[in-house]
Amino acid sequence: MKGVILAGGLGTRLYPLTHVTNKHLLPVYDKPMIFYPIETLVKAGIKDILIVTSGPHVGHFLGILKNGNELGVDHLEYAYQEKPDGGIADALSLAESFADEEPITVILGDNTTDADISEEVTSFKDGALAFLKEVRDPERFGVAFFDENKNITGIEEKPKNPKSNMVVTGVYIYDGKVFGHIRSLKPSDRGQLEVTDLNNIYIKNGEFKWAELDGFWSDAGTFDSLFAASKYWAEKNK
Ligand code: DAU
Repeated sequence: MKGVILAGGLGTRLYPLTHVTNKHLLPVYDKPMIFYPIETLVKAGIKDILIVTSGPHVGHFLGILKNGNELGVDHLEYAYQEKPDGGIADALSLAESFADEEPITVILGDNTTDADISEEVTSFKDGALAFLKEVRDPERFGVAFFDENKNITGIEEKPKNPKSNMVVTGVYIYDGKVFGHIRSLKPSDRGQLEVTDLNNIYIKNGEFKWAELDGFWSDAGTFDSLFAASKYWAEKNK
């Protein structure tokens, strides 16, 4: 399977740091943030990777990643998201020709995890699959709710009153139908094509599965989460 890392956006929550470089190149302990999703994919056997990025500092990626070989990547491609905050689904739409109608594993570039996703990657057939995690602050994320059989019946993006503590992490697997579904999305109130709206289409079609992300997971897009992620990796690496 091929992998896609979404590393666009403006990283405004990390101003002033992101005035001088792209958010995904900031350090999480001893490595640039983007190394973590790359390592998650490579560990799952995914070595053909597309990075979607945007904004004024895109050239910095090449300087750090080069052709990706030092991280175990066989083939690294880049795509440029014209509207840097067009939304996660907008960024993903740029992977259409790269995916070539095959399933893809997608990771948000500010997510770090030590989970092993190989099993789900290997056994994936069709539809969509998202990795979920129980957290204490679900209102910061896409929050899933379930029927009595633990099937997801819907996802709400950053709800004020979350219906559960199970949130959708930034790790997903999609079949080739994903790009058609993205074309049917309308921008949300904040003007973005939302990954949650995309996932809700799969849920409505009865084609959505989930698995628990087993291990540490954090985003790193705010000062608090960036600090928490750095602290975890510093302790783990000692
Ligand atoms: O981290 C998991 C959460 O990520 C999910 O629970 C939410 O459902 C999902 O919407 C997302 O929420 P965030 O508010 O954290 O998303 P954020 O805008 O910070 O974007 C996360 C990454 O997605 C970012 O590091 C790069 C990529 N991205 C984002 C946008 C808005 C793009 O590539 N292009 C974009 O236009």
